[in-house]
Amino acid sequence: MAKRKRKLPRHSSPPVQQGLVSPRRPVPSHIVLPPYAISGKPPPAVAPLVRTPEEIEAMREAGAHAAEVLLRVAEKIAPGVATEALDAFVHDEVISRGAYPSPLNYKGFPKSVCTSVNEVICHGIPDSRQLQDGDIINVDITLYRNGVHGDTSSMFLVGDVDESSRKLVRETLIALREAIAVVRPGCAINEIGHAIETHARKHRLGVVREFIGHGVGSEFHSKLAIPHYFDPKQTRQLEQGTSFTIEPMLTLGSPSLRIWDDEWTAVTKDGHRSAQFEHTLLVTPTSAEILTQTPTGETAHDLIADLVNA
Ligand code: MF3
Ligand code: CO
Ligand code: CO
Repeated sequence: MAKRKRKLPRHSSPPVQQGLVSPRRPVPSHIVLPPYAISGKPPPAVAPLVRTPEEIEAMREAGAHAAEVLLRVAEKIAPGVATEALDAFVHDEVISRGAYPSPLNYKGFPKSVCTSVNEVICHGIPDSRQLQDGDIINVDITLYRNGVHGDTSSMFLVGDVDESSRKLVRETLIALREAIAVVRPGCAINEIGHAIETHARKHRLGVVREFIGHGVGSEFHSKLAIPHYFDPKQTRQLEQGTSFTIEPMLTLGSPSLRIWDDEWTAVTKDGHRSAQFEHTLLVTPTSAEILTQTPTGETAHDLIADLVNA
C-alpha cells in the first residue's frame, strides 16, 4: 500500500515576519549585573551542580519573582500588542524587583525576554510585530537576583486559537508535568527525556532535539545538559540539591528547525507550530521542588491549563 502523507492541520495564519528591533534598553546602575552583561560573553561554566542552602533560598526568591513577572505578562497578551511592548514591560518589572533581565546581552541577545510566536520554537527577539488573533506565544523570562538566575516560560493564547494549536499547548504542558514527576535523587537524566518523548509520541507530536534543559544557578546555563528526548547514553544520576530546567519544545509537524539570519530565532522548517513550557527545579530528598512559582504555588501554567483543559 502506498504511504499516505500524514495530514497536518492547516493554519490560516501566514508565516511570522521579522519586525523592527528597537534600541537597547538601559539598566539602572544600582542593579547588580551578571558577568556577561557588559561583554556579552558568559565565562566558561564551572559552578558545581549542587547548590548551597544559601543559594537554594536565593533561587526560591529569584524563581518566585520570575513566576510573578510571567503571571503579570499574561494580563498583557492581546491582539494588537507588539512583542517589544512585552519586552518593555518585562524589563521594567524585573528591574523594579531589583533584578537583572538575564537574556539582555547574553551572548549578544538584544532584548530582556524571549517571545516566540507560532512556528517560532524559541529565542524569538521581541520586535514591532503585533500579536494577531489566533496566535500562540511563548514568553520566556529569566532574571538574575542575589547572584542566581530563575528561568521559566509559558505559552499564552491570543484571542481565538484553533483546536490543533490548543492540543499542542495542552500536551506540551502535560509532557513537562510528566517529566517533573520522574525527578528524584538517583533519577537517571534520560528518564526525563523518556517521559517527554513517550508523551509526545502518544499524541503524534515532534520533540525538538537542538535545545535542551540545563543546570541553572549562579550561571544562566551551567554544565548539566537535560535532553527532552530519550538518550540511552544519559545514565548519570541526579543528586539532591541539583537545580536545573526542563523546557520541552513540541511541534505539530516535524521538529526540524532553521535559524533566522538574526542568529537567534529558531523556527520549524515546515512552518507548523511549536510550543514550550519551562520550570526551574530543585532535586529534593524525594522528588522535585518547582522553584519558579509564587510563594503560594501559583504559576502562569495554571492559567493556560484552564483554557486548554490540561
Ligand atoms: N531562557 C532561555 C532558556 O530557557 C535562554 C534564553 S538565552 C537568550 O534557556 F539569550 F536568548 F536570552
Ligand atoms: Co532555560
Ligand atoms: Co528560559
